[in-house]
Amino acid sequence: MNLEKLLEWRRSYRKFDETKLISKEDIGDILNSIKFASCVNNRQYLRFISVEDKSKVLEVFENTKWAASLPNNLGRPKVGERPVYFIAILSDNDKKLKFNGIDEGLVISNLTITAAEKGIGSCIIGSINDKKMREILNYEDNYSCEVVIAFGYPKVNSIIKEIDTTEDQSYYLDNNGNYIVPKYKISEIVRRI
Ligand SMILES: Cc1cc2nc3c(=O)[nH]c(=O)nc-3n(C[C@H](O)[C@H](O)[C@H](O)COP(=O)(O)O)c2cc1C
Repeated sequence: MNLEKLLEWRRSYRKFDETKLISKEDIGDILNSIKFASCVNNRQYLRFISVEDKSKVLEVFENTKWAASLPNNLGRPKVGERPVYFIAILSDNDKKLKFNGIDEGLVISNLTITAAEKGIGSCIIGSINDKKMREILNYEDNYSCEVVIAFGYPKVNSIIKEIDTTEDQSYYLDNNGNYIVPKYKISEIVRRI
């Protein structure tokens, strides 16, 4: 897949084949992409927990919220569709810089694109509770977790649909349970001078 196709495929997935585990080698490659991410002043303050143990994966999953735009918890993966792997990103509360969020975003891009290249889907999950994550993942007091990333082999497609900025940008499901993700036309959100 060329880069454009890969970026297009790298959507948020919320239905995975729970029987298909991610190999340790692929997990290693995904984690390795951390070191290729730029970060402010090359400080590398972020820390990561690779949640591979099945019972821990399920515990993290139980404490995540999915698809706020869909009604009736429709977007929450059911048994058989749950993610098989998580990466938790930890920020250092003492050393947190103004650009912490940018550092997180850049590293998340690397992790999810590396996974996508292997056919592994992901979903960034910000709806988590740091206190709960600390209980499950047992990290030091000076760290906090604002985001985890769920991974697995997707069971559905996610398709981008171009829209005008006057239209509703909320994602929705088609009749086959595939995600339709409206994105604004570039010509409407970019001013070229
Ligand atoms: C910082 C951040 C936090 C997010 N948190 C959640 C979340 O808690 N639950 C969820 O289902 N999706 C979450 N998402 C996924 C977004 O809903 C998704 O990126 C958006 O709908 C666009 O879809 P796309 O990723 O396929 O482009 C999050 C995305 C980002 C970037």
